[in-house]
Amino acid sequence: MPILNRAAELQQEVAGWRQHLHSIPELLYDVHQTAAFVEERLREFGCDEVVPRIGRTGVVGIIKGNLGDGPTIGLRADMDALPLNEITGKPYASATPGKMHACGHDGHTAMLLGAAKYLAESRNFSGSVAVIFQPAEEGGAGGQAMVKDGMMERFGIERVFGMHNMPGLPVGQFALRPGPIMAATAEFTIKINGKGGHAAMPHGTIDPIVAASQMVMSLQTIASRTIDPIDSVVVSITKFHAGDAYNVIPSQAEIAGTIRTLRTEVGEKARQRMREICEGIAAAHGASVEVDIDVNYPVTFNNPDEAVFAGDIAKSVAGEPQVHTSIQPVMGGEDFSYMLEARPGAFIFIGNGDSANLHNPAYDFNDEVIPHGISYWVKLTETALAR
Ligand code: NI
Repeated sequence: MPILNRAAELQQEVAGWRQHLHSIPELLYDVHQTAAFVEERLREFGCDEVVPRIGRTGVVGIIKGNLGDGPTIGLRADMDALPLNEITGKPYASATPGKMHACGHDGHTAMLLGAAKYLAESRNFSGSVAVIFQPAEEGGAGGQAMVKDGMMERFGIERVFGMHNMPGLPVGQFALRPGPIMAATAEFTIKINGKGGHAAMPHGTIDPIVAASQMVMSLQTIASRTIDPIDSVVVSITKFHAGDAYNVIPSQAEIAGTIRTLRTEVGEKARQRMREICEGIAAAHGASVEVDIDVNYPVTFNNPDEAVFAGDIAKSVAGEPQVHTSIQPVMGGEDFSYMLEARPGAFIFIGNGDSANLHNPAYDFNDEVIPHGISYWVKLTETALAR
């Protein structure tokens, strides 16, 4: 079964919503206009229930099928944008400097709204579908906030599905894998306290720059010497700040960055080794060190059965050769992981075609993707909730 006719008919209207949302990007939990737009549309479609303010600014719509009682499944989209200056020059480009939809969450929200419109019209399923619109995917754990707010229990959600666009994957194609599909993330800040002094008299100082430099090099051995080569780990140092003058050895240096892993135990081991390396090097220099590690999103883990189910749905929409069911995991993080920790389900990538990369100021969601995304959501619902 290719794209649904009704989904193709909805394309223009949904692209209009998408472009409107694109022009009003909002960050983290501060998605008030976007959430209000979602809420209005869901009421207009005649959803049986529309509940705002779940996980602060999340919105859930409930649509009951016409085929009798049955379970409830959840379909999730994210609503937030990124702190970037858009350079697309599109007529619907961000109207707010310093904010833009550079990850396509405008497209995810619009496609799920399109599916909600379709499903509220046709209701060709049993049980209920919960359309979930979450805030704060980009580092604010909005998905976790909605789960903590009791969303799964309140609406009786038993399975949950998510979707993200992927630049470089042709339009009309889908990709996923069973097991870990996106990485666990942790952000670290390492403060090295030495003893400042005259650059011409280094023997009277404890140079934090030399100690920090050794840490930068030694932290590379977490990937090369500590973690089993069969496992995946990324340790990237992305900040190195110290000093203000040519002739002063500063008293402090600070380095920071991110750790990405695909297994919980690997993340724990990497963090423990990071502390040991930094403390050991600091001691060798007579400096002191504070290692602050903020454990963020867990691994996005596709339940193996649900990944097969989601892959089969994608195949029925796109055709078998268009669906890649054993892609490599992506080392980015994704806070749909919290929903997948709470309920079985699967996360799938949908091709965005030849576009700029995610989080790039030239990125734009591809409106040609819309009917494919809507068809996937509708087919998934009608199959999962078949009578
Ligand atoms: Ni994203």
